[in-house]
Amino acid sequence: METTVRTTSSVAGRHRRPRPVLTALYAVFLLAGCAGDAPSALHPAGSGASRIADLWWLLFWLSLAVFAEVIALLAWALLFRRGNARVRHGQPLRFVTIAGAGIPLVILVAVYGVGLRDLAALGAAPDPDAPTVEVTGHKWWWEVRYPGASGATANEIHIPVGERVRVRLRTDDVLHSFWVPQLMPKTDLIAGETRETWLRAERAGSYRGQCAEYCGTQHAHMAFLVVAQSRADFDAWLARLDAPARQPSTEAERRGQQAFVQGTCAACHTVRGTGAQGRVGPDLSDMGSRWSIGAGAVPNDAGHLGGWIANSQTVKPGNAMPPQPVDAAQLPDLIAYLRSLE
Ligand code: CUA
Repeated sequence: METTVRTTSSVAGRHRRPRPVLTALYAVFLLAGCAGDAPSALHPAGSGASRIADLWWLLFWLSLAVFAEVIALLAWALLFRRGNARVRHGQPLRFVTIAGAGIPLVILVAVYGVGLRDLAALGAAPDPDAPTVEVTGHKWWWEVRYPGASGATANEIHIPVGERVRVRLRTDDVLHSFWVPQLMPKTDLIAGETRETWLRAERAGSYRGQCAEYCGTQHAHMAFLVVAQSRADFDAWLARLDAPARQPSTEAERRGQQAFVQGTCAACHTVRGTGAQGRVGPDLSDMGSRWSIGAGAVPNDAGHLGGWIANSQTVKPGNAMPPQPVDAAQLPDLIAYLRSLE
């Protein structure tokens, strides 16, 4: 028996040996998540996310207080163990009833109450005349439309700052989840249903959103940007979404437009005001001003755009766009045309 015990404790001892280098590495990776521009729910920029952040901090401080109390009681029990002549062990049953059941019950009921209050506030519908945006999840990008505007954009949602904006959510295929950590908690997109949430940004800026439900190989490349801007800027942007795309102004752009409309691009993509009216992929009428290519896959610049047109499968494998048989001489024109669309 004695041998067994010694063996066990020596094995446990070997497992318990600290590994400072590994621990430091873990810490570095964990702390990388605290980098300044990360879209963290703990840096809220809207009233929805503020509620979540407040709830998070309430739970954090309560947990810390409970942890400190348990450690203090443990220390107390070790220092003044039973049989210690200097301590009078008064009424253990009363202590256990109050500290072990009464106080935790009060804390849990209070936190539950705060949670219910926040749930009701987050679920409340915006005013009937609030601006509305319709977002459809696709594998793996977000189609964005506004009732009353003929056009669409992709992976970019514009909202007026300081206003509650209704967001209607649908999915074209599988389950996705709409999440803008700094503005609002997640809302799942469920096939056959129209879900609703809202966004409200207290200050102008760009806030990154992300699909938060695993939806296939490119789930990680299903990001979007919420751009909160002044009412005047938003109205101007929305008016452009209802107007034909910008016309080419250089020879290269004109050749690019011709290649786009007469080639395979037009089968899947729309550019408003041209013969390209495909509805399979994103509307590209404002391609030049988009923040990224492929829903956050790569930056929107000429080099990445060329690579994407030629063979997007090398950038975002599995996406719906097959490699394009584009003439090497045509590629610069296509790039010039698409980058001119703002
Ligand atoms: Cu869409 Cu994950």
